[in-house]
Amino acid sequence: MKKVLVTGGCGFIGSWCCESYIKKGWQVTSYDNMTKYELMRTGYNTEKARDFNWQYLKNLGVNLVKADIRNKGELFEYAKSSDFIIHTAAQPAVTISMEDLELDFSTNVQGTLNVLEAARQFNIPVVSCATVHVYGNTINQELKEQERRFTREPAEIAEDYPMVGGILTPLHASKSSADTYVKVYVDTYKAKAASFRLTGLYGERQLGGEDHGWVANFSIRAILDLPIRIYGTGKQVRDILYAQDLIEAFEAFYNNPVPGIYNIGGGSLTSISLLECIDLISEILGKDLKVEFHPARLGDLTYFICNIDKAKSFLKWQPKTKPETGVRNLINWIKRNLDLFKK
Ligand SMILES: NC(=O)c1ccc[n+]([C@@H]2O[C@H](COP(=O)([O-])OP(=O)(O)OC[C@H]3O[C@@H](n4cnc5c(N)ncnc54)[C@H](O)[C@@H]3O)[C@@H](O)[C@H]2O)c1
Repeated sequence: MKKVLVTGGCGFIGSWCCESYIKKGWQVTSYDNMTKYELMRTGYNTEKARDFNWQYLKNLGVNLVKADIRNKGELFEYAKSSDFIIHTAAQPAVTISMEDLELDFSTNVQGTLNVLEAARQFNIPVVSCATVHVYGNTINQELKEQERRFTREPAEIAEDYPMVGGILTPLHASKSSADTYVKVYVDTYKAKAASFRLTGLYGERQLGGEDHGWVANFSIRAILDLPIRIYGTGKQVRDILYAQDLIEAFEAFYNNPVPGIYNIGGGSLTSISLLECIDLISEILGKDLKVEFHPARLGDLTYFICNIDKAKSFLKWQPKTKPETGVRNLINWIKRNLDLFKK
């Protein structure tokens, strides 16, 4: 029986990975320290929300380990007999990175290095989750402001766009460093490793707060009749990606492990501005939504649409889900689990 180790397995993306591989008949281990740092800031029912994915995966038969990627010895014990590692554990929020530099650095840089080292020593293919924040935000200077969104020519941005330009936060440093270490392991040690530079992800089991997971955050607030808070004009653009499409990208890499750096997003198929996303949620729910505008946040990236030609050509992967379908699925899940979001 094949074995996959999913770091951060009880997080949003990790839980989708665990579910997908257990349903394929693999032995699945979720390796997660169950941090509550981010959830405590959401105003949700923190305890219930934190345990939701743990219980969900337990019922599916996933092997659940409460442990930290910064603990190299323990990580190696669980990694050594794996056939595949999917590394999703991270400190993912800009805001928290500014509050606690050391947490951000140790989790995203040292933690990722430990995962890569385990993959190298035991010769295991590994995908590490990066983010389009590795590009920094000089892209903000290249945009035209239209009525409902920013635009750029050309619309899509490829992997050769310069990294970490513009105004930087600690998260830029830690995530770009982890992404660079993946390239180091590929170039220097010939590791079967990939760094997926992910755009905005969304889907069921995303406990989106204001710091991370904005599509879910907007949907949750809309359903609860709370005002949606927008930082900036609302014309910011992302090529949002439905979680199932990302799962297929992980599989594509396992089946055809061409190492390297990949933009993984919806491309032009799924590009949407915050204002357009609010329109979509409003249409699905059949009601007008309350929206509040606040000043833009430090280091925000105003626009990103991935050029995914490299993933299409090397991994034979492409996204399929349009926001109209994926956001409807997310909204239905939130409606079925409203008690997670009420104190
Ligand atoms: N969700 C998105 O929109 C998005 C966008 C771009 C990139 N990413 C990247 O994808 C990855 C996963 O994101 P997510 O949305 O699933 O995040 P998440 O916060 O839902 O999940 C992360 C999980 O990692 C665990 N974790 C944190 N620190 C840990 C540690 N030291 N040891 C073990 N486990 C630890 C947390 O408990 C959590 O369950 C991250 O690298 C993130 O930067 C996500």
